[in-house]
Amino acid sequence: MKITVRKGEIQKQRADALVVNLFAGATPSGATAAVDSAVDGQISAAIRLGDFSGASGETLLLYAKDSIASPRVLVVGLGPRESFDSETARRAAAQAVNTLEGTGCTRIASILHGGGAGGLEVEAAAQALVEASLLAQYRFERYRSQPKSTSLKQLTLVESDPSKLPALRAGAKSGQALASATAFARDLINHPGHTATPVYLATQARRLARAHGIKTRILDEKAMAKMGMGALVAVGKGSANPPRFICMEYNGDKRERPLVFVGKGITFDSGGLSLKSVSGIVSMKKDMSGAAAVFGAMQAVAELGLPRRIIGLVAAAENMPDGNAFRPGDALQTLSGKTIEILSTDAEGRLVLADALTYAQRFKPAAVVDLATLTGACVTALGHHAAGLFSNDDALCERLILAGQQTHERLWRLPLWPEYRQQIEGDIADMKNSGGPPGGASTAAALLSEFAQDYPWAHLDIAGTASSDAHRHYLRKGGVGFGVRLLTQLARIW
Ligand code: BES
Ligand code: MN
Ligand code: ZN
Repeated sequence: MKITVRKGEIQKQRADALVVNLFAGATPSGATAAVDSAVDGQISAAIRLGDFSGASGETLLLYAKDSIASPRVLVVGLGPRESFDSETARRAAAQAVNTLEGTGCTRIASILHGGGAGGLEVEAAAQALVEASLLAQYRFERYRSQPKSTSLKQLTLVESDPSKLPALRAGAKSGQALASATAFARDLINHPGHTATPVYLATQARRLARAHGIKTRILDEKAMAKMGMGALVAVGKGSANPPRFICMEYNGDKRERPLVFVGKGITFDSGGLSLKSVSGIVSMKKDMSGAAAVFGAMQAVAELGLPRRIIGLVAAAENMPDGNAFRPGDALQTLSGKTIEILSTDAEGRLVLADALTYAQRFKPAAVVDLATLTGACVTALGHHAAGLFSNDDALCERLILAGQQTHERLWRLPLWPEYRQQIEGDIADMKNSGGPPGGASTAAALLSEFAQDYPWAHLDIAGTASSDAHRHYLRKGGVGFGVRLLTQLARIW
């Protein structure tokens, strides 16, 4: 869908549909009132008759005769004015797009949602509208014999006040960059494991290097072994698809200490010799969703040209069982020198992250944030509505939680008490890679914390938020790209 911006009055636009909005219980004002009078008061009639109230999620589709240049008018409900925020704006935009997709419309023209009475900054409102409209139009059709395309082709943002146009254009540009970076991450997650292998992920890093001027360094198995990344190498050993360690560097500011983003890139998690069950294994192509978030965020910060120094690290491996696979009982030596005893080869994410977190140290980071589909326990604790947040730094947590509120990728802090570390004390090595079911998200984080002692660090367990089981507003079924907008927002407010 192409995005354009136009100065003008919404009721005068020539499009297949005009989109305006209404707060719950309100009477039409501004652009909505202008459209209402242009269609002989049909909107106020619908409100008077009790057919439309402006509740969030509600839509009213009208057919105009010759009084205006567009045959359709869609009014989307914004819900109560008091609770309006950028997430309401995103959902309203998605609601409009999802209502009009598949109809005879190809070109739609919309006003901003909440740019006036809603109290959103024009730039934020434009970003929300474009970001959510594009994300709602995301489709993954690569593996169909007959790929379907979406019917909507153009979205025009209409604004009558010329003084608002620069901010509106800037917001639209950010929205496009964030949506395309999120779509990139969704694609990586949605590609099956036979395509999205560790080598494939490395190829994506090279593509980012070419298209966005990001410096990349890729370590193959031999280089990783030579460096001493015993944990990452061990996890990759049972697979015919060799592991890769991927390092990406974006230099929007050369002098500052960097923000380092680290992603778990298990391209398929069979569990290894501690093999998963049929129902447990089925969705495990998504076990590289943390890596996908890092790739997406690298693309977004580069495309937005943020004045920051950002490093992206991805520990990529496929966790498979075969004669060469690592085993329960093995004692691995990590890059840090610390050793880990394997209780379950299915607790592999923390192993590959251990080496990546040690590698991060060389950049003298201002902060390190890792993202990982790490534990089923975190899904049990928080469901699909928030990612678990674990950290050794309160100030970093505050910023992350704020960024998560702004993008609606919500985070909830969980404890990292010393007792969780005691629970993974090793019998023959420094620690073991599983503490059993109790507090499973916290014991996994406790293991990671052993490798993240030299910088402010936060770990996001995105096992529950990485994918969606249904189409929901601007999320589509499958990989959602959780973390791309969050990490980019963190870089923006840093
Ligand atoms: N990738 C899984 C965690 C996961 C589960 C992600 C469900 C998304 C949805 C991880 O590697 C894993 O298998 N964790 C184990 C750890 C256990 C063996 C200590 C788990 O959570 O069961
Ligand atoms: Mn696993
Ligand atoms: Zn895993």
